[in-house]
Amino acid sequence: MDDHLFMPNGIDSQKILLQTLLGRKTERTPVWLMRQAGRYLPEYRELRAQKGGFLELCYDAEAAAEVTLQPIKRFAFDGAILFSDILIVPHAMGQKLWFEAGEGPRLAPRLLDASLASLEGAPEHFEAIYATVRAVAAQLDDKTTFMGFAGSPWTIATYMVNGQGSKDQAATRRFAYRDEAAFSELINAIVENTVTYLLGQIEAGVDAVQLFDSWAGSLSPVQFEKWVIAPNAEIIARLKAVHPDLPIIGFPKGAGAKLIAYANETGASAIGLDETVDPVWADKYLPAGLPVQGNLDPLALIAGGEALETSVRHILDVFQDRPHIFNLGHGILPDTPIEHVEKLLTLVRQ
Ligand code: CP3
Repeated sequence: MDDHLFMPNGIDSQKILLQTLLGRKTERTPVWLMRQAGRYLPEYRELRAQKGGFLELCYDAEAAAEVTLQPIKRFAFDGAILFSDILIVPHAMGQKLWFEAGEGPRLAPRLLDASLASLEGAPEHFEAIYATVRAVAAQLDDKTTFMGFAGSPWTIATYMVNGQGSKDQAATRRFAYRDEAAFSELINAIVENTVTYLLGQIEAGVDAVQLFDSWAGSLSPVQFEKWVIAPNAEIIARLKAVHPDLPIIGFPKGAGAKLIAYANETGASAIGLDETVDPVWADKYLPAGLPVQGNLDPLALIAGGEALETSVRHILDVFQDRPHIFNLGHGILPDTPIEHVEKLLTLVRQ
């Protein structure tokens, strides 16, 4: 396998986002936005309608590659993120997956009603995603960092157990207390599949990967150690054993003060900060030199104007001495005006 994308000298490449992830301060702060390929873009909505739906789009490598590149063509972000979804992993582990219009994802059977052992794996779903990665890698310019991703085990487990999203993940938190052995088995199975899946993405051509733990914020400190820190540390160690220099961004959303333990114990190469984290606090308490990513409030981007300018300047200012990737604190919202994204880019790049 040709590993040109990922020379230990990624550092010598023109990819400033990759260099930042490797711990360098670059002449300008790199910027990309979580969920940058998505519904706020008319070209995305059009292609989704043509293909019949979101999941159809994810499994059509050529179309998914096009969606991955749409925000790069329009805005020249410093990073392209693979267009896919974190729920491909439960799909490949044998649950049915579909998206209810206007509501969100559904998985069946949910593990409140069925055992993990009753699922019949469908690893072929991963192959379609690797085909997207290869198609993007073949088309991407040499300045843009290409990021793969997966959900973190806790967040994936909340969907697998409950069959859909929920406000406080209570059903899954109860499950984890009630039957720790069964829950631990589930987390281990997700870890195995995630390692396979991310190694596949890396071999197909991504430069870095991000682990999304969207629901990390609902756990008590002891549960956070067990279900967030330990499984993420294992995934990271196993990826690094094969690809020691490949950056891994950890994004435990809502972790608050537990970010310190996360940063010290998981081995993540960079930490994503959500919009509730005070940048001054993060700069003071996270390990010196550890790259951070974030953390503009997606609503400040929608608001635009003064609120946007002040927030952007503050974040850039606080992280001026630390490797920093400018991003939102969470995904861009569908009603974000495109001119506000353009304004944001002007502010970050000037
Ligand atoms: O960031 C990107 O542009 C890359 C693609 C990406 C998507 N989802 C596309 C998507 C990524 C990295 C994700 C991650 C994801 N998916 C997370 C973690 C990050 C987060 O937002 O917390 C989660 C929890 C999911 C699961 C998921 N997928 C939900 C809850 C939903 C429905 C809610 C929503 O925003 O519509 C999705 C659908 C989804 N994933 C869409 C996109 C572009 C919208 C589908 C559509 O209607 O076109």
